[in-house]
Amino acid sequence: MWEKRPILFLILATAAIMTGTTITMIVPFLSVNTEADRIESVKPYTPLQQEGRDVYIREGCNNCHTQTVRPLVSEVLRYGEYSKSGEFVYDRPFLWGSKRTGPDLARLGGKYPDAWHYKHMASPRTMIPGSNMPDYGWLSKNPLDPDLARRKMKVLDFPYTEKQIADLATKNEMDAIVAYLQKLGNDIPWRKAAQTTIVGDLKNPFIGNKDAIEAGEHLYENSCAPCHGEDRQGEIGPELTDIDMDDADLYEIIHNGISDGGMPAFGSLGSEKVWQLVNYLKEKDDD
Ligand code: HEC
Ligand code: HEC
Repeated sequence: MWEKRPILFLILATAAIMTGTTITMIVPFLSVNTEADRIESVKPYTPLQQEGRDVYIREGCNNCHTQTVRPLVSEVLRYGEYSKSGEFVYDRPFLWGSKRTGPDLARLGGKYPDAWHYKHMASPRTMIPGSNMPDYGWLSKNPLDPDLARRKMKVLDFPYTEKQIADLATKNEMDAIVAYLQKLGNDIPWRKAAQTTIVGDLKNPFIGNKDAIEAGEHLYENSCAPCHGEDRQGEIGPELTDIDMDDADLYEIIHNGISDGGMPAFGSLGSEKVWQLVNYLKEKDDD
């Protein structure tokens, strides 16, 4: 019967929609983007990082990579601490992306040493054999333009020093993108806090097991050789031919990584595979 009283119907419908809008949109807005969301340790980009960010946008890296870790267990286990809104205050525009052909990069900073990035960007397949990411080696042939960088910093109202601008003259786009990648997600100290403690006794389940050693060798070739060398002779990471530590310590290093040394954590492989690696490294060690 309301349908026959259009004015009343209009008023009631408007009231219903406004109530919904207020509850689902206006009220939440009061609690986001407030001072409470600010994170003190999140800093604006330096001129070099900002240049790298612009290369990232120009090359469309965001078509293959996202930059936000959702608060889901599987994502946090894979990438690290989930993203906080306050971490994006200096991202104009933000680069959350929507397509993950490659992995999320929001927590990339500090995961690898610079040297790894230079090699990976120049030729992803030298570091990750099955990668379908394009080569970007030519970025190192493009010098940066300090004057343009200065103007960008002014527009963005980010702090910079004349020395930082002058230093750009000796840098190229590859230096810039590596500097940018190393900043991602690194403004909050999440790595130390995220280190999973290993519960229970660490007892090597595969001592002398030939199959485990062989499986470990295979894992090594894929996951470790790019940094520690084909024959464990050392490259980006130290040589691993003469490991002087017990099985449990070795397990912990592989599982947790070395957060301020550029050794990534491999705990996500699962304990069986980590033990296979331990046995492979120890076996070769005894030769
Ligand atoms: C065609 C899709 C594609 C494009 C475009 C692309 N990538 Fe990738 N990227 C990948 C894939 C797939 C991987 C995973 C394999 C690997 O590490 O090479 C990856 C991996 C990475 C990694 C390593 C991440 C990690 O945690 O191991 C970085 C860093 C990276 N890409 C940066 C970039 C940057 C910077 C650009 C733009 C200059 C870019 N990518 C463009 C597909 C892409
Ligand atoms: C991105 C490069 C990188 C990859 C990939 C990598 N490492 Fe490392 N690793 C390092 C670096 C760098 C260090 C030195 C860190 C430090 O001491 O501060 C290191 C240190 C180590 C150490 C300690 C060595 C010592 O004498 O203290 C072990 C053991 C190790 N890595 C094993 C592995 C294994 C096993 C894998 C594969 C599952 C692996 N690493 C993959 C870079 C890497």
